[in-house]
Amino acid sequence: MNPILAGPLGIHCGNLILVNACHPVRLETAEPCVPLPGSSVRLQQRAAAVLQHMLSNLGCSGQILPVSGYRRFAEQQQIWDDSMRNHGESFTRQYVALPGCSEHQTGLAIDLGLNEGEIDFIRPNFPYEGVCQRFRKAAPQYGFIERYPSGKEAVTGIAHEAWHFRYVGVPHAQIMARRNMVLEEYIEYLKQFPQNGPHLVETCGSRPFEIYYLPAEQAGRHRQEDSSLYEISGNNVDGYIVTLWRHTV
Ligand code: DAL
Ligand code: ZN
Repeated sequence: MNPILAGPLGIHCGNLILVNACHPVRLETAEPCVPLPGSSVRLQQRAAAVLQHMLSNLGCSGQILPVSGYRRFAEQQQIWDDSMRNHGESFTRQYVALPGCSEHQTGLAIDLGLNEGEIDFIRPNFPYEGVCQRFRKAAPQYGFIERYPSGKEAVTGIAHEAWHFRYVGVPHAQIMARRNMVLEEYIEYLKQFPQNGPHLVETCGSRPFEIYYLPAEQAGRHRQEDSSLYEISGNNVDGYIVTLWRHTV
């Protein structure tokens, strides 16, 4: 059995965990966080490495700055309290997740800002043009999604945040972008593909992937029989997502 399935915290770790007001963070971070180069902003190791690689590939390292990454509960609480005091309740509920319910507490979320002098900590400028738009368009192929898009406020419970990106990994970010789904919708959608039914099959970057959902109560009996490379993530709700890297033909 894959070790991630062992123990009661299994469904609460992995790149695909859904964190929102209904699904709080259970582990402040399951993985070690590391600082991004030249910054005190930290992310889970893999997300940090991918982000750095992406910024460097796009040639925009100095133009896009990390503003906020991993936050401990106490830091999220402080941001919430400061925002309530300075901006009031309506603004705060739109732009700051409840302490305990912020993706930033997972080390998988990053706020980015255009390097243009003064940067607003809660709402950095990350416009839909120029270098920021190049980053945004490329993000899914690297495993990052724009987490709080315009038009999905009623689903995410958070206002449109052009600057907040979430690492979910490949191929999930590409599938979500193709289907115009936010994480809440994608986690629900994947339940149509159980282990013993037809799996979701998608080709991303010429590589075929197969994805299925495994309810938590079936995890103890789970065996991935063939030799494909695979990855398992909890969904932080009720089960796991299994992703298989199929061989190209
Ligand atoms: N700004 C996002 C919603 C957070 O506080 O996690
Ligand atoms: Zn954020």
